[in-house]
Amino acid sequence: MSIRPASPRPRVARLLYGGDYNPEQWPERVREEDARLMRVANWNIATLPVFGWAHLNPSESVYTFAWLDRVVEHLTGAGVDLCLATATASTPAWVDQQYPDVLTVDEQGRKRPHGNRHAFCPNSPSYRRLAGSLVREIATRYGNHPGLRLWHVNNEYGGSWPNYCYCERCAQGFRSYLERRYGSLSRLNEAWSTAFWGHTYSSFSQIDPPFSHGEGSIQMLKIDWRRFQSSSYLSCFEHEAAILRQITPGVPVTTNLMGAFQALDYRQWAKSVDVVSWDSYPMSDTPFAEVAFSHALMRGLRDGEPFLLMEQSPSHQNWAPYCRLKPPGQLRLQSYQAIAHGAESVMYFQWRKSRGGIEKLHGAVVEHHGRTDARVFREVAALGKELASLGDETLGGRIPSRVAVVFDWECWWALNASSGPSRDLDYHREVTNAYAALHSGGIQTDVVGPEADLARYDVIVAPLAYLMRADQAARIADRTRAGATLVATFFSAVVDDNDRIHEGGAPGPLRDVLGMTVEELDALPEGARQALRFDHPFGELAADADYPASLLCERVWLHGAKPLARYAHDFYAGQPAVTVNTHGEGKAYYVATRLERNAWSSLLRAICAERGIASPLDRGAPPPDGVEVTVRVSPGGKELLYLLNHGLVPRSVAIGPGGRIDRLTGNRVTDVARLEPGDVLVLEA
Ligand code: GLA
Ligand code: GLA
Repeated sequence: MSIRPASPRPRVARLLYGGDYNPEQWPERVREEDARLMRVANWNIATLPVFGWAHLNPSESVYTFAWLDRVVEHLTGAGVDLCLATATASTPAWVDQQYPDVLTVDEQGRKRPHGNRHAFCPNSPSYRRLAGSLVREIATRYGNHPGLRLWHVNNEYGGSWPNYCYCERCAQGFRSYLERRYGSLSRLNEAWSTAFWGHTYSSFSQIDPPFSHGEGSIQMLKIDWRRFQSSSYLSCFEHEAAILRQITPGVPVTTNLMGAFQALDYRQWAKSVDVVSWDSYPMSDTPFAEVAFSHALMRGLRDGEPFLLMEQSPSHQNWAPYCRLKPPGQLRLQSYQAIAHGAESVMYFQWRKSRGGIEKLHGAVVEHHGRTDARVFREVAALGKELASLGDETLGGRIPSRVAVVFDWECWWALNASSGPSRDLDYHREVTNAYAALHSGGIQTDVVGPEADLARYDVIVAPLAYLMRADQAARIADRTRAGATLVATFFSAVVDDNDRIHEGGAPGPLRDVLGMTVEELDALPEGARQALRFDHPFGELAADADYPASLLCERVWLHGAKPLARYAHDFYAGQPAVTVNTHGEGKAYYVATRLERNAWSSLLRAICAERGIASPLDRGAPPPDGVEVTVRVSPGGKELLYLLNHGLVPRSVAIGPGGRIDRLTGNRVTDVARLEPGDVLVLEA
């Protein structure tokens, strides 16, 4: 992927530690206290004023900066730098009243009233103009401030239900977008398969957004609508970023993303930000491998560059069904997990818990009681101190990965629009499972998009890659022919980027590489199980065992590929379920059904082992249950091994001969590292 940042990528001089601060909710005396306490908490950066539009710009062309000037003075006087927000995320009431084109229309065509946040039409000219004026004022006023580190544009774009706007202006913009994309109506009719059910259009003006009470059977309408809406929000970001870059060319620009957020194709966004930043809100029962996947996904957006953890809760989130506390030490563990995966900041939402409003019960560093002897405050302060003691050793490091897992937003959209083959099909879950299967083996893995340059990867795993572009397939085929290993799974390369079935059926342009063709597909109801048996032992997978399979089972014809495992039940018992084909210098595996976690992990580990890829631990052994391992290599070539115990029991991890120094304690660790529950070791070779 070629990414040309608009400004140079920020080299942060120290790990950023701080978070969201909403001073507009507090009187002056509290603000002064806040600056003092941030120093006690060892914060070095504050993000503000994310929702400050109404306070900075109380009526058209009237700007009131005096209060923010004082806050900026308090903060920077206390040694707290600024991640300045452009404050455009919540439109003031006067904007929505005077300029109704700013208000969004929902998926049933109803105009939504004023009142939420992130609720502006991305194609509203009034929004662009008024937001642009505010951004220009803020950038001019604070652009030269020595404490300014970073611009935080808007907030969580699209993060308000129903994510998209369905107004007439968006509809018009959509029609123009389609004219540009297809060039002619006949090309659109062809691409959208409108001959089906007589959906043929005779004018672009006949195309409406996919209202929820409207036409639901034109799948490309939904997919192109997502493409259009994602790019509409992106152009809002680009509009603000262009103003900032003009006034403050040296200051990096970001906007906080949300991990695997379906509404926006973040791969397109990544080309426009100077640094990826994202908000991580795992629930109390989110597996740590899933959090790791999200970090890897965000890191992969800009080809492995370090990213920023812009928000996390220090304790809990009010919007969860149950506000479970993070037990002592978990915040530290999750923060190091982010760093271990490439983060260069640990930041929170939010500094002080609000007294009113929907988030008055959301976790914060300073609770309503305001005390610094509270558990959460003490944990936050201690972590800040510890991170500062690490110096710049953890900065700029890359995760050296020879394995890539493909995650593609358009594939996600297409699968979501698909009628069949199973209501249980969940793209995000399947890709996360593949990542987790590798992760539990301690195998360093990148998450890449369909445009990724695959040259550096020796194993490419493409789970449920239903939508496969011709150029993407060609890159995968070339890399495989040149010696890499491809692992493809069921229901892959079924359609092209117009959601049209590839000629000759699945796996379309990968049929030659994989040496097989799908004959038919059986979808198993929830709870139903198939099983598969390997012809010969494969890695840890035994030949005399049944490994459960579920979800989808494809029957395949082989033309070159050899069977490795076969179905155990039903009328297709004995027929191939896992196959391998030789392609040029490389190999291509096909897994025609869904394996359970352990077998999936064993299979992927065995495939990686063929290429000499294993965990960085002694003899390439997988880490013990609950333990996570990553390696980050600094720009100077120094290797840091991160070990994190997410489990509830102490674990011993064989790290191999040769001592390593734990950067957190200075202790020397030889051969076996011992980790108590919640422990983190950062080991330097
Ligand atoms: C009905 C319709 C057909 C087709 C089938 C699919 O019978 O008449 O056009 O859509 O359903 O099951
Ligand atoms: C998001 C938003 C914040 C806050 C948190 C609460 O990350 O960006 O403003 O609402 O959620 O979890």
